[in-house]
Amino acid sequence: MSRTLKVPGIAYGGDYNPEQWPEEVWAEDVRLMREAGVNMVSVNIFAWALLEPSEGTYDFSRLDRVLALLHENGIAADLATPTAAPPAWFFRAHPEALPVDKDGRTLSYGSRQTFCPSSPAYREAALRIARVLGERYADHPAVVMWHVHNEYGCHNGECYCDTSAAAFRVWLRKKYDNDLAALNDAWGTTFWSQWYYDWDEIIPPRVTGAVPNPTHQLDWRRFCSDELLSLLKAEREVLLEAAPDTPATTNFMVMYNFDKLDYWRWAPELDVVSNDHYLQSTDPESEIDIALSGDLVRSLAGGAPWLLMEHSTGAVNWQPVNRAKTAGELRRNALAHVARGADGIAYFQWRAAKAGAEQWHSAMLPHAGTESQIWRDVVQLGADLGQLAEVRGSRGVAEVAIVWDWNAWWALELPSQPSAEVRFQDLIRAWYEPLWRSGVAVDFVRPDADLSPYKLVMAPSLYLVDDTGKANLTDFASSGGVLAVGFHSGAVDENCHIRLGGYPGAFREALGVRTDELFPLLPGDSVELSDGGTATLWSERVALAGAEAVTSYTTGPLTGVPAVTRNSYGSGTTWYVATRPDPTTLASLLSRIREEAGVKPVRTTPETVEAVLRRGPDADYLFLINHGDEDAEVKVAPGAVELLTGKPVEGGAPLKVAAGDVAVVREPR
Ligand code: GLA
Repeated sequence: MSRTLKVPGIAYGGDYNPEQWPEEVWAEDVRLMREAGVNMVSVNIFAWALLEPSEGTYDFSRLDRVLALLHENGIAADLATPTAAPPAWFFRAHPEALPVDKDGRTLSYGSRQTFCPSSPAYREAALRIARVLGERYADHPAVVMWHVHNEYGCHNGECYCDTSAAAFRVWLRKKYDNDLAALNDAWGTTFWSQWYYDWDEIIPPRVTGAVPNPTHQLDWRRFCSDELLSLLKAEREVLLEAAPDTPATTNFMVMYNFDKLDYWRWAPELDVVSNDHYLQSTDPESEIDIALSGDLVRSLAGGAPWLLMEHSTGAVNWQPVNRAKTAGELRRNALAHVARGADGIAYFQWRAAKAGAEQWHSAMLPHAGTESQIWRDVVQLGADLGQLAEVRGSRGVAEVAIVWDWNAWWALELPSQPSAEVRFQDLIRAWYEPLWRSGVAVDFVRPDADLSPYKLVMAPSLYLVDDTGKANLTDFASSGGVLAVGFHSGAVDENCHIRLGGYPGAFREALGVRTDELFPLLPGDSVELSDGGTATLWSERVALAGAEAVTSYTTGPLTGVPAVTRNSYGSGTTWYVATRPDPTTLASLLSRIREEAGVKPVRTTPETVEAVLRRGPDADYLFLINHGDEDAEVKVAPGAVELLTGKPVEGGAPLKVAAGDVAVVREPR
């Protein structure tokens, strides 16, 4: 049977840590939760030490009271297994479960997530508490979902201890079918005398005198992601035995700079995909990051609605300078996530902490209490989400897919590349941005995904691709699709071996080009393009082998060489963007490509208004988010109703979206 989240409408809430407060405070908590329209909170995330005071002895009395109180007040619980923060007694009994960093330093307990993912003692202790918790609360009426662990890999994505080394060898034996020669071949260990004669010779890629073997490092990243995934699966299994009908989630971290886990492998293990997203204080357009992250999470969920499990109402506390949100930003951020497919909005955390490492992190209920802007915004958002109940379950519709692959990301950013300045996320965002500005809906896909729903597939950065991915992408083009590929894509296979014969290896034939040498640009350098633009970061000596040059370099060592090419391939078209054009040039190039592909924006809106569509069974939901300082007007379909105000839009008149405001329009279909 399908395990779905049984909370009516859009879920709203946050992490609730009542154990950090005297019980007198709890009554106020639930009263204020109701006032704000909160209908689900995540509890117990960091409560292990209080729940299990010593090995095998439990005290559930506090959690019993918390869950009862929530239930009496009609607030559902997303009940966490507290396994992200083992208690001190555990580490005193099992010091070998502490993780070791790349430099060989053993880390101490005293914060959270300081355990070795491969430790048998940790696994045993985690599964024990998960089982006891699962059995105790399986039928509790407040519990609507399991929140397994918390942000797997946030602080301990890699452990280099001897136990991890042994687990790595087990993983490798399985991957290479116990064939050490196959591993030597895949890793290219004839290089620098790295040949292995015995599995036990293999260790994690610890700090060494020179550059470690690339395939060794890549397999290590894959192993680390899989090792944490095996913990998720094990906990999930235990919970499923106890409560077969309760859905489970774990909070992903699809956000800037978190690259530890291959979430394509993780998402299928969950009943509900959820994500944590925080803004970078230094990003002047963090709304683009929200959109990108939301599109990627929705894609991980296979297009199904997902939950925003954590976000901040104001400043976080873990960046060098933590900026507060500007007027209306909390609301725009939250509704932007809903626009991208979230059926729930939750924050870290409910009540701002008085003590502990996160005492300067914002919350739904700030230190200042209810006499505060954040509280007023939180209450307003609760009302807004209440108005959007019918949006639940509706889905995004996209004609464009961007290829996203963690293996390609990991491989691209290994040391000793042609340029350490080339960053996967920067390239994806550079291509995503103009689509976002034009209101074009985007899905993210794996290289081997079903591409039949799309007219245009873009691979801004796909350094590594295996033969299946290569065939899938090039077949898409030859059978009539439009494929646009960014520089340095297709360069290596799944073992990080260079695809010989000229670049961009895997895509050379489909793109109709052949590059014999790469010319990365130094930081600060740029070259000019024949279309009047400039380019930075990268160039290469592209020779045409069937393609036509769209733009060429007009300055620098590659003057006259194509920078952007277009090729007819089978019944489709392929484009190669062999450099990084400036944003305006890239935007006009991508709009030409998408127009040729017949891709239309969701809606044409004034420049400052982000337009996103969710499609329900009988109606479309058009989200209009005005990020600008001026009021804007947008044409909507006849019979439309603006859901946040509940008002029908006057027949024929455009809808006004005030500066900084959001509108959600139901349009009949
Ligand atoms: C993460 C964690 C939370 C909290 C927030 C702070 O998302 O899951 O427990 O530490 O960061 O931003």
